[in-house]
Amino acid sequence: MDMLVVRGGHPLRGTVAVGGAKNAALPIMAASLVASGTTVLHGVPDLVDVTTLSHVLRSLGAHVERRGDAALAITVVDQQPCLADYELVRRMRASVCVLGPLLGRRRRACVSLPGGCNIGHRPIDLHLKGLRALGAEITIERGYVFAKAERLQGADIYLGGSFGSTVTGTCNVMSAAILAEGTTTISAAACEPEVVDLGNLLNAMGARIEGLGTPLLRIEGVNELHAVEHTVIPDRIEAATLLVAAAITRGELTIQNVCAAHLAAVTDLLRATGVQIEFQGSTAKIRSTRAPQPVDVTALPYPGVPTDVQAQLTALLALADGISVVTDKVFPDRFMHIPELMRMGAGIRREGASAIISGTPRLSGACVMASDLRASAALLLAALAAEGESVIRRVYHLDRGYERLEQKLNLVGADIRRVTDTAENIPESLLLSMDDPSAPSIDSSDTPPPPKFLKHAEARSSAIREQ
Ligand code: EPZ
Repeated sequence: MDMLVVRGGHPLRGTVAVGGAKNAALPIMAASLVASGTTVLHGVPDLVDVTTLSHVLRSLGAHVERRGDAALAITVVDQQPCLADYELVRRMRASVCVLGPLLGRRRRACVSLPGGCNIGHRPIDLHLKGLRALGAEITIERGYVFAKAERLQGADIYLGGSFGSTVTGTCNVMSAAILAEGTTTISAAACEPEVVDLGNLLNAMGARIEGLGTPLLRIEGVNELHAVEHTVIPDRIEAATLLVAAAITRGELTIQNVCAAHLAAVTDLLRATGVQIEFQGSTAKIRSTRAPQPVDVTALPYPGVPTDVQAQLTALLALADGISVVTDKVFPDRFMHIPELMRMGAGIRREGASAIISGTPRLSGACVMASDLRASAALLLAALAAEGESVIRRVYHLDRGYERLEQKLNLVGADIRRVTDTAENIPESLLLSMDDPSAPSIDSSDTPPPPKFLKHAEARSSAIREQ
């Protein structure tokens, strides 16, 4: 297992490029199951989640191969398989995106219910509501969704839930409805750019979807869909993460391959903290010279501030010159990053779906633990700004959604090393010295400190004895 060792305090300066959007690539890969022929996707990032979904597609009768840089070719060779196994789905809940395409094209599906998630309760009741409305018979047994339909029938579907629209729920219902008989309307549909990108791909395949990007979709069912070539949109969440990296290190970055329209809420908010951001075509230039001003943040469905950027903004606001309130209306419990940020000196208090952040002038490097994809990004950003060294463990979370992020950041001045997670690789600076009053006495902890710590402690105590 890897960990990242970060030496903070370096303002980032230079040019960095954004990759293709993970959250567009995944439903688009799943949707390739509906088409005859070879679907070629460009701009597909090399991520663990993409690899996992490639395995799911192979288990469903598709041939998946990487073609050169960032391209993926998917050919359905067998329309029979319809089981998306728990062993694969539990690794990545977005595998549930195969449900709609399988039901639409093969009229049956057996997909494992996704497992738990560190960002909060993530049911799929709205997915199933929409598919049932199209005429699917759906039962849940032994942790699997069993779905079948002789022929899906168009319907008028309301897909809103207690926390607003559902991104992958809209993807699933849309991917089934395009092959249903008759007309389907989906109201309270998700408007995220990733849903629009999927809809554009499906229309290129021969589907007839109107209203993409609005809460009301109208779909005329068709009988056949053909494979296409498609380029995935830029990853607005990675772009936002890089913008925050420049802001939190008080640096100056040029970020290529961005879509300004997709970043309107994040841009507006970062400007309110005092950073300068300008767009020229698909390039963003951001410059920060001082501590951020405090602002209140509410994560909402698109076009609001994305919940997938909430943790990164929380890290930035931990260094603000005042008090900020961060609220997540999409995932009210998405605050696993807070205790870890507090280990770095952040002053944050939870109040229900909000975090009250009392900004501090500095953060100090520490050993911290990633808990999910965007929390790991937040901890990395905080470590870039912190004084001294930090260690971030369980970075496999980061690798699920960011392609070589530490390499990109090192090219613009960061100091990040990816090492094996062993005691020997913990920097000396993070091993408490024995004369530090807060140092744990060796017999106080119920688990022995790492050997390196013991060696360090023995050396210190023998030095004291000799004095
Ligand atoms: C997508 O997840 C993204 N993942 C998430 O990004 C993102 O955080 C989320 O949308 C919100 O924008 C992918 O696209 C692969 P939802 P999804 O269905 O579709 C509730 C990342 O870091 N809900 O839009 O699973 C749900 O509990 C990931 O890249 C229901 O109640 O999210 C949540 O509160 C994390 N019933 C809200 O709706 C349902 O049937 C939004 O969830 C479905 C959802």
